[in-house]
Amino acid sequence: VTPPLMLRNPLSLVSTEMNTLAKNIMTLIGSGHPTLNKMTGYYFETEGKRVRPLIVLLLSRALGQIPLEERDNVKIDYTDFPTNKIDPTTIREKILSGAPVANFSPLKVLHGITPLNPLTQGAVPLPEEVFDKERGILPKQRRLAEIVEMIHTASLLHDDVIDHAFTRRGKPSGNAAFTNKMAVLAGDFLLGRATVSISRLRNPEVVEIMSNSIANLVEGEFMQLHNTDNEDPRSQSQLHSLIQRVLPTPTKKLETQAHDYRVPTIDETTTTHEEKVNNALQYYTHKSYLKTGALISNSCRATAILSGARQPIVENCFQFGRNLGLCFQLVDDLLDFTVSSKELGKPSGEDLKLGIATAPVLLTWRKDPTLGPLIKRQFSEPGDVQRAFHAVKTHNGIEETRQLAEEYRNKALQNLREALPESDSRSALEFLTNAVLTRKK
Ligand code: FPP
Ligand code: FPP
Ligand code: MG
Ligand code: MG
Repeated sequence: VTPPLMLRNPLSLVSTEMNTLAKNIMTLIGSGHPTLNKMTGYYFETEGKRVRPLIVLLLSRALGQIPLEERDNVKIDYTDFPTNKIDPTTIREKILSGAPVANFSPLKVLHGITPLNPLTQGAVPLPEEVFDKERGILPKQRRLAEIVEMIHTASLLHDDVIDHAFTRRGKPSGNAAFTNKMAVLAGDFLLGRATVSISRLRNPEVVEIMSNSIANLVEGEFMQLHNTDNEDPRSQSQLHSLIQRVLPTPTKKLETQAHDYRVPTIDETTTTHEEKVNNALQYYTHKSYLKTGALISNSCRATAILSGARQPIVENCFQFGRNLGLCFQLVDDLLDFTVSSKELGKPSGEDLKLGIATAPVLLTWRKDPTLGPLIKRQFSEPGDVQRAFHAVKTHNGIEETRQLAEEYRNKALQNLREALPESDSRSALEFLTNAVLTRKK
């Protein structure tokens, strides 16, 4: 049976919004400085996968199917959203003039015109074209989709500096094209503008959630710092003597290298092998959540809050994003083992070389305790990488990782079914969730 069109292409349900996403972002990041404009706009010129805004928009649409009577915290706000194109007075006039009654649209929530509004007695007319145009997605949710992509892109600009990456989205990375310094500043600027847009959503809970997700990204990145080179051409001891010349009181000698900031994967205080493995897996899961899951899960939570959904639904939306993010990261980590660089479009087999023990290795370690020392020394000795690769193959580390990813996929599907009434948007989200598990690159 051929699946319906929207199942084959979940994007088609929100294509209007997706098509204007980049243009809207461009208007949010304009500055008075042409070079800065060029830099901040650089990663938006070529398309990323835009999976985060896609999820936010589909979820908004799916949440729009929840009857208004089943929602709380429905905010009445006429004035506080600057990009709101529809003039609230006009809408009110249409209502009072007795225009044809349309079905409920979340837009009415935004305009304070709800079935509970005594003025309209539940008769809620809305110009058909407005409803169709907005597809049940609130302007604030649309803006949230743009914000998420801005935060994500800011983090990529910084990530490429940290990772010394030279390509991104099919072209030279920001650092390669413009220098590290400009890439960092461009990322900061994007983040600044994203923050302005977040605060303009005028929802304190959403401001807190989204700000927290930015901090989470940094924390996650910090937990896996892996470049050990010091970028300052002056050595630590040269820096130390310079400092001594300027600062009045002698300071402790600087000895810390980026390397030392790495939080150990192996917890030495635990005793049994099983405990060590479990702790390492917990650490890995937490890091993956912060790095990959926090932004999408908190965006899903914010999307639900903006729709006025009740707490259990908000929580399910958050968990959906978390489980999806973890599933995605597990698949990412197993593809690093199974797919060639050419197919992947970015270097593969990198994690071990960088000293990072991801799920395939950690799950293999459970069966092969001799991997412990290699993990601890971050595969730094000759032959370590090959040995770990071989062990993963022999002990089915890949298959176990896939099973774990499948568990998270199942939980994510469950969250969707608990949070949302059946709809084409929900089906599209289910389709996406399944695709995360089965993707080949
Ligand atoms: C780049 O993002 C890669 C990461 C941020 C690391 C891992 C995260 C993912 C692979 C995606 C997160 C998962 C979900 C479910 C939202 P990207 O691969 O999205 O890059 P792009 O924006 O250039 O496509
Ligand atoms: C991609 O990971 C990058 C991230 C998941 C986030 C990076 C976060 C920071 C650099 C912190 C700064 C954050 C902000 C908001 C400015 P990856 O290197 O594993 O994936 P890749 O293969 O796509 O590069
Ligand atoms: Mg990177
Ligand atoms: Mg990185």
